[in-house]
Amino acid sequence: MEFLDLPPMLGAAGSVRLPGSKSISNRVLLLAALAEGETDIRDLLMSDDVERMLEALRALGVEWRREGDSLNYRVRGVGGPFPVKHGDLFLGNAGTAFRPLTAALALSGGEYRLSGVPRMHERPIGDLVDALRQLGADIRCTANEGYPPLHLKPATIRPGGVVRVRGDVSSQFLTALLMALPLTGVETTIEVVGELISKPYIRITLELMARFGVQVQQQGWERFVVPGGARYHSPGTVFVEGDASSASYFLAAGAIGGGPVRVEGVGRSSIQGDVRFAEALEQLGARITMGDNWIEAAAPASGVLKAFDLDLNHIPDAAMTLAVAALFADGPCRLRNIASWRVKETDRIAAMATELRKVGAEVEEGADYLVVKRPAALRPAAIDTYDDHRMAMCFSLVGLGGCRVRINDPKCVNKTFPGYFDAFARVARPVPVVAIDGPSASGKGTVAARVAEALGWHYLDSGSLYRLSALAALRAGVALDDEAGVAALAAALPARFEGGRVLLDGDDVTDDIRSEACSAGASRVAVLAAVRAALFDRQRDYRVAPGLVAEGRDMGSVIFPDAGIKVFLTASAAARAERRYKQLMEKGLPANMESLLKDLQERDARDAARPVAPLTKLPDAALLDTTERNVDEAVAFVLELVEAGRKSSG
Ligand code: DC
Repeated sequence: MEFLDLPPMLGAAGSVRLPGSKSISNRVLLLAALAEGETDIRDLLMSDDVERMLEALRALGVEWRREGDSLNYRVRGVGGPFPVKHGDLFLGNAGTAFRPLTAALALSGGEYRLSGVPRMHERPIGDLVDALRQLGADIRCTANEGYPPLHLKPATIRPGGVVRVRGDVSSQFLTALLMALPLTGVETTIEVVGELISKPYIRITLELMARFGVQVQQQGWERFVVPGGARYHSPGTVFVEGDASSASYFLAAGAIGGGPVRVEGVGRSSIQGDVRFAEALEQLGARITMGDNWIEAAAPASGVLKAFDLDLNHIPDAAMTLAVAALFADGPCRLRNIASWRVKETDRIAAMATELRKVGAEVEEGADYLVVKRPAALRPAAIDTYDDHRMAMCFSLVGLGGCRVRINDPKCVNKTFPGYFDAFARVARPVPVVAIDGPSASGKGTVAARVAEALGWHYLDSGSLYRLSALAALRAGVALDDEAGVAALAAALPARFEGGRVLLDGDDVTDDIRSEACSAGASRVAVLAAVRAALFDRQRDYRVAPGLVAEGRDMGSVIFPDAGIKVFLTASAAARAERRYKQLMEKGLPANMESLLKDLQERDARDAARPVAPLTKLPDAALLDTTERNVDEAVAFVLELVEAGRKSSG
């Protein structure tokens, strides 16, 4: 399975332009299709769900075209029911396409089949089907009653009167009915049975219908009268607001990670209910500022979000973001009245509970609520996303706890926000890494340790882990080519680094691991893939605020490919041999220049030729040749790179 590894973060700040709202995009497309006249739609969302709607409309005889590769579309409305009377539509997992099209097609007098992905076939639609049947529609659920796929047949529609629809499972059933009823031309009253959930989404529907010329009379949240003779007319141009649900991840990032983080595209004048997510964040102590078309969030003055107990029925989608924000609150948090989560892209209550537990949270799961208690420290985990875009986006916030996180199947964000992870990377500030590699005896260890000290960052001498693995194998009598045996030792290496000393199982082995036997052993175990894999996470755990200087072969290529600074530190073989010679002499050890040089040259050749993690300068690494430089100059060179990087990232 594909995955995306997100690094631990120091914080978040910056600004993001939001993609268009999914709810508005798919409603406007349908209204423009049914309307008289042409509609120019600006800033339409480009995502899977909108694609499904566009494809369906084309199949139903609606002409539309995209202007170049802009986000602007022109739709030629058909001015009434769809002209194409036969169709077989595949609508993926797009509820915002499936429900409204079901209603519009049921009243279009044709024969249609509607289906989606397997999960779509588990999502209820019975309440809408029941309502449409009251109007005379002939709708069959071809697999299970109350669920897609659907087979719609031509039928005599008996418009007018009162249609009753349940409102307590999904507000999309009411939305679908409201948008379709003007096709009948006869005044119809909708009565909502049960407590209507997700009311702000109905507001979006009514607001957009009004823009297309149909004013629905609203009597509380129980009765809606669609007037007789109502017809949709194109308003000319419609601007799609930024997606307020998508805004929630960035606002939460600002509230958790210091901020300020600004989202552009939604604000005070938004018609989307999910802008009220900002109010919820405010109740957690976040500092929120708002303009007509932007919202900004920063961390509470105290630095920590307050625990909460909130009814979130009005913002079901954005509320998921609060479940993850609860990992950063100062006490247990309760999310109430969220039963609709169970019939969304996945059972979101169950999915959220399972994945929050993976990072260490204590979670209580109820039929319509969640209680989330943060752990003392977050644990790195691989998060499953259940083909649910919001699961993937929510869990990207875990990195703000200084904890790396793996997002499985990250492309599920394409449903509503294909560029999500790039946008997130623009505001997230990862814990910085300087990766230093180079040939044997190039002085990379000395330089790396000095740079770490100068910056006050952590230091990883990755070679010592391979040396320790070799030593552990030698001590345990495990053959150095016993891949599984050495890997098992490497995975559980009882090693500690303390004040420049290296301890194995409590023994000081600082000098032992530098012995010729360990050096030779290290280079043998380092070519074993299972050993490298066993040390993978251990090395990544060194990435801790405020930063890390990591030295060794694959630091910049495999362990920290996203390192902001990569350095390839080298020197001529002659210069390196001479340095080694001096070191040995100083220690009073026997040394021979010629054989040292020959050794180094042979080792370089072996290192460059080995199939696993060969010695090579990465294209994005800065070359630092120290043949003519001393250690101080080399350290200064790297520190300048760090400084320049800081300046360019603001
Ligand atoms: O840097 P060093 O000499 O301490 O490394 C010891 C051995 O481990 C050497 O053969 C290179 C290898 N090594 C590696 O393969 N990958 C690393 N990240 C670090 C060292």
